[in-house]
Amino acid sequence: MSSLFAKKSMQVLLAQAQEEGSDTLERSLGVVSLTALGIGAVIGAGIFVLSGIGAHSAGPALMLAFVLSGLGCAFAGLCYAEFAAMIPLAGSAYTYAYATLGELFAWIIGWDLTLEYAMGASTVSSGWSNNFVEFLAIFGLKFPLWMAYDHWTGLRTALTTVCRDALHAAHPELVQGTREFSAALLALVQHPTPELTAKAHTLLNAPRLFGVELGFNLPAFLIALVITTILVVGIKESAKFNSGIVVMKLAVVLFVLGLGSHYVNRANWGSDWHSFAPFGMGGIGLAAGLVFFSYIGFDAVSTTAQEAKNPQRDLPIGIILSLFICTLLYIGIAAVLTGMIPYQSINIEAPIVRAFLDYQVGWAANIVTIGSIAGLTSVMLVMLLGQSRVLYAMAHDGLLPKKFFGDIHPRFRTPWKGTILAGLLAAIVGSVTPIDDIGKMVNIGTLLAFVIVCIAILVLRRTDPDRPRPFKTPLVPFVPILGIAFNGYMMYTLGKWNWIRLIVWLLIGLVVYFSYSRYHSEVRKKLV
Ligand code: ALA
Repeated sequence: MSSLFAKKSMQVLLAQAQEEGSDTLERSLGVVSLTALGIGAVIGAGIFVLSGIGAHSAGPALMLAFVLSGLGCAFAGLCYAEFAAMIPLAGSAYTYAYATLGELFAWIIGWDLTLEYAMGASTVSSGWSNNFVEFLAIFGLKFPLWMAYDHWTGLRTALTTVCRDALHAAHPELVQGTREFSAALLALVQHPTPELTAKAHTLLNAPRLFGVELGFNLPAFLIALVITTILVVGIKESAKFNSGIVVMKLAVVLFVLGLGSHYVNRANWGSDWHSFAPFGMGGIGLAAGLVFFSYIGFDAVSTTAQEAKNPQRDLPIGIILSLFICTLLYIGIAAVLTGMIPYQSINIEAPIVRAFLDYQVGWAANIVTIGSIAGLTSVMLVMLLGQSRVLYAMAHDGLLPKKFFGDIHPRFRTPWKGTILAGLLAAIVGSVTPIDDIGKMVNIGTLLAFVIVCIAILVLRRTDPDRPRPFKTPLVPFVPILGIAFNGYMMYTLGKWNWIRLIVWLLIGLVVYFSYSRYHSEVRKKLV
Protein backbone atom coordinates (compact mmCIF):
# COMPACT_ATOMS: atom_id res chain seq x y z
CA MET A 1 0.00 0.00 0.00
CA SER A 2 2.70 2.46 1.02
CA SER A 3 4.45 1.86 -2.31
CA LEU A 4 1.49 3.60 -3.95
CA PHE A 5 2.84 6.73 -2.33
CA ALA A 6 6.49 6.01 -3.11
CA LYS A 7 8.36 9.25 -3.73
CA LYS A 8 11.09 9.95 -6.19
CA SER A 9 14.11 11.09 -4.23
CA MET A 10 15.60 14.52 -4.81
CA GLN A 11 19.01 12.98 -5.52
CA VAL A 12 17.57 10.91 -8.35
CA LEU A 13 15.66 13.89 -9.72
CA LEU A 14 18.66 16.19 -9.68
CA ALA A 15 20.90 13.56 -11.29
CA GLN A 16 18.27 13.14 -13.99
CA ALA A 17 18.21 16.89 -14.58
CA GLN A 18 21.95 16.80 -15.30
CA GLU A 19 21.88 14.00 -17.86
CA GLU A 20 23.29 15.00 -21.24
CA GLY A 21 23.68 13.10 -24.49
CA SER A 22 22.20 12.52 -27.91
CA ASP A 23 19.22 10.71 -26.42
CA THR A 24 18.29 13.62 -24.18
CA LEU A 25 16.43 16.83 -24.92
CA GLU A 26 18.42 19.75 -26.29
CA ARG A 27 19.21 22.70 -23.99
CA SER A 28 18.74 25.81 -26.10
CA LEU A 29 16.17 28.09 -24.42
CA GLY A 30 17.20 31.35 -22.75
CA VAL A 31 15.16 33.75 -20.65
CA VAL A 32 13.68 35.60 -23.65
CA SER A 33 12.52 32.40 -25.37
CA LEU A 34 11.08 31.08 -22.11
CA THR A 35 9.13 34.28 -21.43
CA ALA A 36 7.95 34.26 -25.04
CA LEU A 37 6.75 30.67 -24.58
CA GLY A 38 4.75 31.79 -21.55
CA ILE A 39 3.18 34.72 -23.40
CA GLY A 40 2.73 32.46 -26.44
CA ALA A 41 0.64 30.03 -24.41
CA VAL A 42 -1.35 32.65 -22.54
CA ILE A 43 -2.69 35.32 -24.91
CA GLY A 44 -5.32 33.67 -27.11
CA ALA A 45 -8.99 32.76 -27.22
CA GLY A 46 -9.55 33.90 -23.67
CA ILE A 47 -8.90 37.59 -24.13
CA PHE A 48 -10.21 37.86 -27.69
CA VAL A 49 -13.50 36.04 -26.96
CA LEU A 50 -14.27 35.44 -23.28
CA SER A 51 -13.80 39.09 -22.30
CA GLY A 52 -17.29 39.67 -23.81
CA ILE A 53 -19.16 37.23 -21.60
CA GLY A 54 -17.00 38.36 -18.67
CA ALA A 55 -18.17 41.96 -19.21
CA HIS A 56 -21.80 40.87 -19.10
CA SER A 57 -21.18 39.14 -15.76
CA ALA A 58 -19.07 41.81 -14.04
CA GLY A 59 -19.96 45.05 -15.84
CA PRO A 60 -17.13 47.63 -16.11
CA ALA A 61 -15.58 45.83 -13.10
CA LEU A 62 -14.35 43.28 -15.65
CA MET A 63 -10.92 44.76 -14.90
CA LEU A 64 -11.25 43.55 -11.32
CA ALA A 65 -12.29 40.10 -12.54
CA PHE A 66 -9.02 39.94 -14.48
CA VAL A 67 -7.16 41.08 -11.35
CA LEU A 68 -8.86 38.38 -9.25
CA SER A 69 -8.24 35.61 -11.75
CA GLY A 70 -4.68 36.88 -12.27
CA LEU A 71 -4.07 36.80 -8.51
CA GLY A 72 -5.10 33.12 -8.34
CA CYS A 73 -2.62 32.44 -11.14
CA ALA A 74 0.08 34.57 -9.50
CA PHE A 75 -0.12 32.62 -6.23
CA ALA A 76 0.10 29.34 -8.14
CA GLY A 77 2.78 30.80 -10.45
CA LEU A 78 5.01 31.67 -7.48
CA CYS A 79 4.71 28.07 -6.26
CA TYR A 80 5.48 26.73 -9.74
CA ALA A 81 8.54 28.97 -9.83
CA GLU A 82 9.98 27.48 -6.61
CA PHE A 83 9.54 23.95 -7.92
CA ALA A 84 10.74 24.74 -11.43
CA ALA A 85 14.02 26.12 -10.08
CA MET A 86 14.46 23.31 -7.55
CA ILE A 87 13.52 20.37 -9.81
CA PRO A 88 14.27 21.48 -13.37
CA LEU A 89 12.74 18.45 -15.11
CA ALA A 90 10.30 18.18 -18.00
CA GLY A 91 7.24 16.95 -16.16
CA SER A 92 6.18 20.16 -14.39
CA ALA A 93 3.45 19.56 -11.78
CA TYR A 94 3.65 15.82 -12.39
CA THR A 95 7.31 15.70 -11.36
CA TYR A 96 6.75 18.03 -8.39
CA ALA A 97 4.00 15.75 -7.12
CA TYR A 98 6.26 12.68 -7.53
CA ALA A 99 8.86 14.28 -5.28
CA THR A 100 6.43 15.36 -2.59
CA LEU A 101 3.11 13.52 -2.53
CA GLY A 102 4.15 10.21 -4.07
CA GLU A 103 3.52 8.14 -7.17
CA LEU A 104 -0.26 7.85 -7.09
CA PHE A 105 -0.70 11.61 -6.83
CA ALA A 106 1.94 12.12 -9.49
CA TRP A 107 0.03 9.82 -11.81
CA ILE A 108 -3.24 11.59 -11.11
CA ILE A 109 -1.72 14.98 -11.84
CA GLY A 110 0.06 13.74 -14.99
CA TRP A 111 -3.20 12.30 -16.25
CA ASP A 112 -5.00 15.49 -15.27
CA LEU A 113 -2.50 17.63 -17.18
CA THR A 114 -3.71 16.06 -20.45
CA LEU A 115 -6.90 18.03 -19.82
CA GLU A 116 -4.94 21.26 -19.70
CA TYR A 117 -2.54 20.63 -22.54
CA ALA A 118 -3.99 18.19 -25.12
CA MET A 119 -7.60 19.23 -24.56
CA GLY A 120 -6.52 22.88 -24.30
CA ALA A 121 -4.89 22.56 -27.72
CA SER A 122 -8.09 20.97 -29.11
CA THR A 123 -10.26 23.76 -27.75
CA VAL A 124 -7.99 26.39 -29.20
CA SER A 125 -7.77 24.62 -32.58
CA SER A 126 -11.48 25.01 -33.04
CA GLY A 127 -11.29 28.68 -31.99
CA TRP A 128 -8.47 29.08 -34.50
CA SER A 129 -10.67 27.61 -37.17
CA ASN A 130 -13.49 30.10 -36.43
CA ASN A 131 -11.08 32.99 -36.82
CA PHE A 132 -9.58 31.52 -39.96
CA VAL A 133 -13.01 31.16 -41.55
CA GLU A 134 -13.73 34.81 -40.68
CA PHE A 135 -10.37 35.80 -42.09
CA LEU A 136 -11.21 34.10 -45.40
CA ALA A 137 -14.54 35.93 -45.39
CA ILE A 138 -12.63 39.25 -45.47
CA PHE A 139 -11.58 38.22 -48.99
CA GLY A 140 -15.06 37.02 -49.85
CA LEU A 141 -14.07 33.35 -49.55
CA LYS A 142 -16.70 31.11 -48.02
CA PHE A 143 -15.93 27.83 -46.30
CA PRO A 144 -18.66 25.15 -46.35
CA LEU A 145 -20.21 25.03 -42.88
CA TRP A 146 -19.93 21.26 -42.53
CA MET A 147 -16.18 21.50 -43.15
CA ALA A 148 -15.69 24.42 -40.76
CA TYR A 149 -17.17 22.83 -37.63
CA ASP A 150 -17.81 19.48 -35.97
CA HIS A 151 -21.30 18.23 -36.75
CA TRP A 152 -23.03 19.55 -33.61
CA THR A 153 -21.39 22.97 -33.66
CA GLY A 154 -22.02 23.23 -37.42
CA LEU A 155 -25.70 22.50 -36.93
CA ARG A 156 -25.94 24.95 -34.04
CA THR A 157 -24.15 27.61 -36.07
CA ALA A 158 -26.54 27.07 -38.98
CA LEU A 159 -29.48 27.17 -36.58
CA THR A 160 -28.16 30.34 -34.94
CA THR A 161 -27.87 31.97 -38.36
CA VAL A 162 -31.42 31.15 -39.40
CA CYS A 163 -32.79 32.09 -35.96
CA ARG A 164 -30.90 35.39 -36.05
CA ASP A 165 -32.42 36.23 -39.43
CA ALA A 166 -35.86 35.25 -38.15
CA LEU A 167 -35.37 37.41 -35.03
CA HIS A 168 -34.23 40.41 -37.07
CA ALA A 169 -37.31 40.07 -39.25
CA ALA A 170 -39.72 39.68 -36.33
CA HIS A 171 -38.12 42.25 -33.96
CA PRO A 172 -36.21 44.90 -35.90
CA GLU A 173 -36.01 47.02 -32.72
CA LEU A 174 -33.61 44.57 -31.02
CA VAL A 175 -29.92 45.36 -31.59
CA GLN A 176 -27.55 42.47 -32.25
CA GLY A 177 -24.94 41.85 -29.54
CA THR A 178 -27.03 43.31 -26.72
CA ARG A 179 -28.06 41.24 -23.74
CA GLU A 180 -31.74 41.33 -24.83
CA PHE A 181 -30.92 40.22 -28.34
CA SER A 182 -28.66 37.40 -27.10
CA ALA A 183 -31.31 36.19 -24.63
CA ALA A 184 -34.04 36.18 -27.29
CA LEU A 185 -31.73 34.42 -29.75
CA LEU A 186 -30.74 31.79 -27.20
CA ALA A 187 -34.39 31.08 -26.41
CA LEU A 188 -35.16 30.64 -30.10
CA VAL A 189 -32.12 28.42 -30.72
CA GLN A 190 -33.08 26.21 -27.78
CA HIS A 191 -36.68 25.82 -28.97
CA PRO A 192 -36.66 26.28 -32.74
CA THR A 193 -39.74 25.68 -34.86
CA PRO A 194 -39.57 22.62 -37.16
CA GLU A 195 -39.40 25.05 -40.07
CA LEU A 196 -36.29 26.77 -38.66
CA THR A 197 -34.68 23.37 -37.96
CA ALA A 198 -35.30 22.28 -41.52
CA LYS A 199 -33.82 25.53 -42.83
CA ALA A 200 -30.74 24.99 -40.66
CA HIS A 201 -30.16 21.53 -42.16
CA THR A 202 -30.50 23.00 -45.64
CA LEU A 203 -27.99 25.73 -44.77
CA LEU A 204 -25.57 23.16 -43.33
CA ASN A 205 -25.83 21.18 -46.57
CA ALA A 206 -23.69 18.34 -45.20
CA PRO A 207 -23.10 15.10 -47.15
CA ARG A 208 -24.38 11.97 -45.51
CA LEU A 209 -22.72 8.66 -44.71
CA PHE A 210 -25.16 5.81 -44.03
CA GLY A 211 -27.84 8.45 -43.55
CA VAL A 212 -25.84 10.40 -40.93
CA GLU A 213 -24.91 14.03 -41.62
CA LEU A 214 -21.14 14.54 -41.61
CA GLY A 215 -19.25 17.34 -39.93
CA PHE A 216 -15.49 17.77 -39.83
CA ASN A 217 -13.58 20.87 -38.77
CA LEU A 218 -10.94 20.74 -41.47
CA PRO A 219 -9.01 23.94 -40.58
CA ALA A 220 -8.76 22.80 -36.93
CA PHE A 221 -7.46 19.40 -38.02
CA LEU A 222 -4.90 20.82 -40.43
CA ILE A 223 -3.53 23.49 -38.09
CA ALA A 224 -2.99 20.88 -35.36
CA LEU A 225 -0.98 18.80 -37.84
CA VAL A 226 1.10 21.79 -39.00
CA ILE A 227 1.93 22.70 -35.39
CA THR A 228 2.82 19.07 -34.63
CA THR A 229 5.25 19.03 -37.54
CA ILE A 230 7.00 22.17 -36.28
CA LEU A 231 7.27 20.64 -32.81
CA VAL A 232 8.77 17.43 -34.15
CA VAL A 233 11.39 19.27 -36.18
CA GLY A 234 13.02 20.87 -33.14
CA ILE A 235 12.74 22.88 -29.97
CA LYS A 236 14.87 25.72 -31.39
CA GLU A 237 12.70 25.94 -34.48
CA SER A 238 9.54 25.80 -32.36
CA ALA A 239 10.78 28.53 -30.02
CA LYS A 240 11.77 30.73 -32.97
CA PHE A 241 8.39 30.28 -34.63
CA ASN A 242 6.70 31.03 -31.31
CA SER A 243 8.76 34.17 -30.68
CA GLY A 244 7.87 35.54 -34.12
CA ILE A 245 4.19 35.02 -33.46
CA VAL A 246 4.40 36.46 -29.96
CA VAL A 247 5.87 39.70 -31.35
CA MET A 248 2.96 39.87 -33.77
CA LYS A 249 0.26 39.26 -31.20
CA LEU A 250 1.77 41.64 -28.69
CA ALA A 251 1.76 44.26 -31.43
CA VAL A 252 -1.96 43.60 -32.02
CA VAL A 253 -2.77 43.81 -28.31
CA LEU A 254 -0.86 47.11 -28.02
CA PHE A 255 -2.66 48.30 -31.14
CA VAL A 256 -6.03 47.52 -29.52
CA LEU A 257 -4.96 49.40 -26.40
CA GLY A 258 -3.63 52.40 -28.37
CA LEU A 259 -6.42 52.81 -30.90
CA GLY A 260 -9.18 51.64 -28.57
CA SER A 261 -8.27 54.21 -25.90
CA HIS A 262 -9.20 56.99 -28.38
CA TYR A 263 -12.76 55.72 -28.35
CA VAL A 264 -13.06 55.36 -24.57
CA ASN A 265 -15.92 57.24 -22.99
CA ARG A 266 -15.25 57.41 -19.24
CA ALA A 267 -18.98 57.53 -18.51
CA ASN A 268 -19.15 53.86 -19.57
CA TRP A 269 -17.06 52.91 -16.53
CA GLY A 270 -19.77 54.28 -14.21
CA SER A 271 -19.61 57.04 -11.63
CA ASP A 272 -19.80 55.03 -8.41
CA TRP A 273 -19.21 51.49 -7.15
CA HIS A 274 -22.73 50.43 -8.06
CA SER A 275 -22.52 51.50 -11.67
CA PHE A 276 -18.92 50.20 -11.90
CA ALA A 277 -19.82 46.78 -10.48
CA PRO A 278 -23.56 46.41 -11.16
CA PHE A 279 -23.59 42.72 -10.11
CA GLY A 280 -21.39 43.20 -7.04
CA MET A 281 -18.60 40.89 -5.90
CA GLY A 282 -20.64 37.84 -6.98
CA GLY A 283 -20.61 39.05 -10.59
CA ILE A 284 -16.89 39.78 -10.40
CA GLY A 285 -16.21 36.26 -9.00
CA LEU A 286 -18.28 34.64 -11.73
CA ALA A 287 -16.47 36.61 -14.42
CA ALA A 288 -13.10 35.69 -12.85
CA GLY A 289 -13.97 31.98 -13.21
CA LEU A 290 -14.95 32.52 -16.84
CA VAL A 291 -11.91 34.53 -17.90
CA PHE A 292 -9.55 32.15 -16.06
CA PHE A 293 -9.10 30.37 -19.40
CA SER A 294 -7.30 33.43 -20.71
CA TYR A 295 -4.47 32.93 -18.20
CA ILE A 296 -3.94 29.22 -18.77
CA GLY A 297 -0.57 28.34 -20.21
CA PHE A 298 2.10 30.24 -18.25
CA ASP A 299 2.84 27.03 -16.35
CA ALA A 300 3.75 25.33 -19.64
CA VAL A 301 7.08 27.17 -19.37
CA SER A 302 8.01 24.75 -16.59
CA THR A 303 7.53 21.71 -18.85
CA THR A 304 10.51 22.84 -20.94
CA ALA A 305 12.88 22.73 -17.93
CA GLN A 306 15.18 20.18 -19.58
CA GLU A 307 15.49 22.37 -22.63
CA ALA A 308 16.41 25.55 -20.74
CA LYS A 309 20.06 26.63 -20.74
CA ASN A 310 19.96 27.92 -17.18
CA PRO A 311 16.72 26.57 -15.75
CA GLN A 312 17.29 27.47 -12.13
CA ARG A 313 17.57 31.16 -12.88
CA ASP A 314 15.49 31.49 -16.05
CA LEU A 315 12.41 29.35 -15.34
CA PRO A 316 11.14 31.44 -12.41
CA ILE A 317 11.77 34.60 -14.44
CA GLY A 318 9.97 33.16 -17.48
CA ILE A 319 6.94 32.05 -15.48
CA ILE A 320 6.54 35.21 -13.42
CA LEU A 321 7.41 37.71 -16.15
CA SER A 322 5.06 36.20 -18.73
CA LEU A 323 2.23 36.12 -16.20
CA PHE A 324 2.93 39.70 -15.11
CA ILE A 325 3.02 41.07 -18.66
CA CYS A 326 -0.19 39.27 -19.64
CA THR A 327 -2.03 40.40 -16.50
CA LEU A 328 -1.20 44.06 -17.20
CA LEU A 329 -2.26 43.74 -20.83
CA TYR A 330 -5.51 42.00 -19.89
CA ILE A 331 -6.47 44.64 -17.35
CA GLY A 332 -5.74 47.27 -20.02
CA ILE A 333 -7.88 45.48 -22.63
CA ALA A 334 -10.72 45.07 -20.11
CA ALA A 335 -10.58 48.81 -19.33
CA VAL A 336 -10.53 49.78 -23.01
CA LEU A 337 -13.33 47.39 -23.99
CA THR A 338 -15.70 48.46 -21.20
CA GLY A 339 -14.79 52.10 -21.86
CA MET A 340 -15.49 51.86 -25.59
CA ILE A 341 -18.88 50.15 -25.34
CA PRO A 342 -21.48 50.19 -22.53
CA TYR A 343 -21.09 46.76 -20.96
CA GLN A 344 -24.68 45.72 -21.76
CA SER A 345 -23.94 46.15 -25.48
CA ILE A 346 -20.57 44.37 -25.62
CA ASN A 347 -20.73 41.57 -28.15
CA ILE A 348 -20.36 38.05 -26.80
CA GLU A 349 -18.98 36.21 -29.82
CA ALA A 350 -16.23 38.60 -30.93
CA PRO A 351 -16.19 41.49 -28.44
CA ILE A 352 -13.08 43.33 -29.57
CA VAL A 353 -13.65 42.95 -33.29
CA ARG A 354 -17.26 44.11 -32.84
CA ALA A 355 -16.23 47.10 -30.74
CA PHE A 356 -14.15 48.44 -33.63
CA LEU A 357 -16.88 47.64 -36.16
CA ASP A 358 -19.32 49.62 -34.01
CA TYR A 359 -17.03 52.65 -34.46
CA GLN A 360 -16.87 51.96 -38.20
CA VAL A 361 -13.15 51.08 -38.16
CA GLY A 362 -13.38 47.87 -40.16
CA TRP A 363 -9.66 47.78 -40.97
CA ALA A 364 -8.87 47.71 -37.26
CA ALA A 365 -11.29 44.81 -36.81
CA ASN A 366 -9.41 42.93 -39.54
CA ILE A 367 -6.11 43.52 -37.76
CA VAL A 368 -7.63 42.09 -34.56
CA THR A 369 -8.80 38.99 -36.47
CA ILE A 370 -5.27 38.46 -37.78
CA GLY A 371 -3.92 38.97 -34.24
CA SER A 372 -6.35 36.35 -32.92
CA ILE A 373 -5.22 33.82 -35.51
CA ALA A 374 -1.59 34.47 -34.57
CA GLY A 375 -2.47 34.32 -30.88
CA LEU A 376 -4.20 31.01 -31.12
CA THR A 377 -1.46 29.47 -33.24
CA SER A 378 1.17 29.95 -30.56
CA VAL A 379 -1.19 28.84 -27.79
CA MET A 380 -1.59 25.51 -29.57
CA LEU A 381 2.13 25.24 -30.14
CA VAL A 382 3.05 25.65 -26.48
CA MET A 383 0.16 23.49 -25.24
CA LEU A 384 1.21 20.58 -27.44
CA LEU A 385 4.83 21.17 -26.50
CA GLY A 386 3.85 20.93 -22.82
CA GLN A 387 1.81 17.78 -23.41
CA SER A 388 4.62 15.90 -25.13
CA ARG A 389 7.09 16.86 -22.36
CA VAL A 390 4.77 15.63 -19.61
CA LEU A 391 4.28 12.33 -21.47
CA TYR A 392 8.05 12.12 -21.90
CA ALA A 393 8.62 12.58 -18.16
CA MET A 394 5.99 9.95 -17.30
CA ALA A 395 7.55 7.50 -19.76
CA HIS A 396 10.99 8.14 -18.31
CA ASP A 397 9.61 6.96 -14.96
CA GLY A 398 8.06 3.87 -16.54
CA LEU A 399 4.47 4.96 -15.93
CA LEU A 400 3.85 5.07 -19.70
CA PRO A 401 5.52 2.91 -22.40
CA LYS A 402 9.11 4.14 -22.51
CA LYS A 403 9.91 2.97 -26.03
CA PHE A 404 7.13 5.08 -27.42
CA PHE A 405 6.76 8.22 -25.32
CA GLY A 406 10.37 8.40 -24.20
CA ASP A 407 11.93 7.95 -27.62
CA ILE A 408 14.03 10.96 -28.65
CA HIS A 409 14.50 11.52 -32.38
CA PRO A 410 18.22 11.10 -33.15
CA ARG A 411 18.40 14.20 -35.35
CA PHE A 412 15.67 16.53 -34.08
CA ARG A 413 16.24 15.68 -30.37
CA THR A 414 12.50 15.89 -29.68
CA PRO A 415 10.17 13.23 -28.19
CA TRP A 416 8.71 12.81 -31.64
CA LYS A 417 6.41 9.82 -31.21
CA GLY A 418 4.65 11.30 -28.18
CA THR A 419 4.42 14.66 -29.95
CA ILE A 420 2.80 13.09 -33.01
CA LEU A 421 0.34 11.10 -30.92
CA ALA A 422 -0.63 14.14 -28.81
CA GLY A 423 -0.95 16.26 -31.98
CA LEU A 424 -3.14 13.67 -33.69
CA LEU A 425 -5.31 13.34 -30.60
CA ALA A 426 -5.76 17.11 -30.39
CA ALA A 427 -6.46 17.28 -34.15
CA ILE A 428 -9.14 14.58 -33.99
CA VAL A 429 -10.83 15.85 -30.83
CA GLY A 430 -10.72 19.44 -32.13
CA SER A 431 -12.26 18.51 -35.47
CA VAL A 432 -15.10 16.17 -34.52
CA THR A 433 -16.27 17.03 -30.99
CA PRO A 434 -18.21 20.07 -29.75
CA ILE A 435 -15.72 22.13 -27.89
CA ASP A 436 -17.61 24.22 -25.31
CA ASP A 437 -17.70 21.58 -22.61
CA ILE A 438 -14.14 20.53 -23.28
CA GLY A 439 -13.09 24.15 -22.67
CA LYS A 440 -14.59 24.02 -19.19
CA MET A 441 -12.80 20.74 -18.51
CA VAL A 442 -9.57 22.47 -19.46
CA ASN A 443 -10.32 25.06 -16.75
CA ILE A 444 -11.12 22.56 -14.02
CA GLY A 445 -8.17 20.31 -14.90
CA THR A 446 -5.75 23.23 -14.82
CA LEU A 447 -7.15 24.56 -11.55
CA LEU A 448 -6.69 21.14 -9.98
CA ALA A 449 -3.04 21.13 -11.06
CA PHE A 450 -2.59 24.61 -9.54
CA VAL A 451 -4.13 23.54 -6.24
CA ILE A 452 -1.93 20.43 -6.03
CA VAL A 453 1.23 22.41 -6.78
CA CYS A 454 0.36 24.85 -3.96
CA ILE A 455 -0.23 21.92 -1.56
CA ALA A 456 3.03 20.33 -2.65
CA ILE A 457 4.97 23.50 -1.76
CA LEU A 458 3.57 23.38 1.77
CA VAL A 459 4.44 19.67 2.05
CA LEU A 460 8.01 20.03 0.81
CA ARG A 461 8.77 23.03 3.01
CA ARG A 462 7.88 20.80 5.95
CA THR A 463 9.46 17.50 4.84
CA ASP A 464 12.61 18.90 3.27
CA PRO A 465 13.15 22.41 4.66
CA ASP A 466 16.91 22.53 4.07
CA ARG A 467 16.96 21.66 0.39
CA PRO A 468 18.60 24.52 -1.58
CA ARG A 469 15.87 26.53 -3.27
CA PRO A 470 17.27 28.80 -6.01
CA PHE A 471 13.90 30.59 -6.01
CA LYS A 472 11.72 30.73 -2.90
CA THR A 473 7.98 31.33 -2.99
CA PRO A 474 7.57 34.45 -0.83
CA LEU A 475 5.39 34.57 2.29
CA VAL A 476 4.92 30.83 2.77
CA PRO A 477 2.44 29.56 3.99
CA PHE A 478 0.19 32.50 2.98
CA VAL A 479 0.87 32.48 -0.77
CA PRO A 480 0.23 28.72 -1.26
CA ILE A 481 -2.80 28.84 1.04
CA LEU A 482 -4.22 31.78 -0.92
CA GLY A 483 -3.44 29.86 -4.13
CA ILE A 484 -5.42 26.88 -2.84
CA ALA A 485 -8.31 29.14 -1.77
CA PHE A 486 -8.53 31.25 -4.96
CA ASN A 487 -8.12 28.36 -7.38
CA GLY A 488 -10.30 26.06 -5.29
CA TYR A 489 -13.02 28.72 -5.36
CA MET A 490 -12.80 29.00 -9.14
CA MET A 491 -13.11 25.18 -9.36
CA TYR A 492 -16.21 25.42 -7.23
CA THR A 493 -17.78 28.03 -9.55
CA LEU A 494 -17.48 25.61 -12.49
CA GLY A 495 -20.41 23.56 -11.18
CA LYS A 496 -21.45 19.96 -10.69
CA TRP A 497 -21.17 18.66 -14.24
CA ASN A 498 -17.59 19.71 -14.68
CA TRP A 499 -16.71 18.04 -11.39
CA ILE A 500 -18.37 14.84 -12.55
CA ARG A 501 -16.49 14.93 -15.86
CA LEU A 502 -13.22 15.56 -14.01
CA ILE A 503 -13.83 12.64 -11.65
CA VAL A 504 -14.75 10.28 -14.52
CA TRP A 505 -11.58 11.28 -16.37
CA LEU A 506 -9.46 10.68 -13.26
CA LEU A 507 -11.12 7.29 -12.69
CA ILE A 508 -10.23 6.24 -16.23
CA GLY A 509 -6.69 7.30 -15.38
CA LEU A 510 -6.70 5.11 -12.27
CA VAL A 511 -7.72 2.09 -14.35
CA VAL A 512 -4.68 2.68 -16.57
CA TYR A 513 -2.47 3.13 -13.51
CA PHE A 514 -3.57 -0.06 -11.80
CA SER A 515 -3.45 -2.14 -14.96
CA TYR A 516 -0.18 -0.88 -16.48
CA SER A 517 1.79 1.85 -14.75
CA ARG A 518 2.26 0.38 -11.31
CA TYR A 519 3.80 -2.76 -12.79
CA HIS A 520 6.29 -0.77 -14.84
CA SER A 521 7.16 2.04 -12.44
CA GLU A 522 10.94 2.50 -12.11
CA VAL A 523 10.61 3.84 -8.58
CA ARG A 524 8.59 0.82 -7.43
CA LYS A 525 11.02 -1.57 -9.14
CA LYS A 526 13.74 -0.16 -6.90
CA LEU A 527 11.60 -0.72 -3.82
CA VAL A 528 11.30 -4.49 -4.30
N1 ALA B 1 -4.80 31.15 -22.37
C1 ALA B 1 -5.05 30.50 -23.59
C2 ALA B 1 -6.07 31.21 -24.39
O1 ALA B 1 -6.67 32.14 -23.91
C3 ALA B 1 -5.42 29.08 -23.39
O2 ALA B 1 -6.30 30.85 -25.52
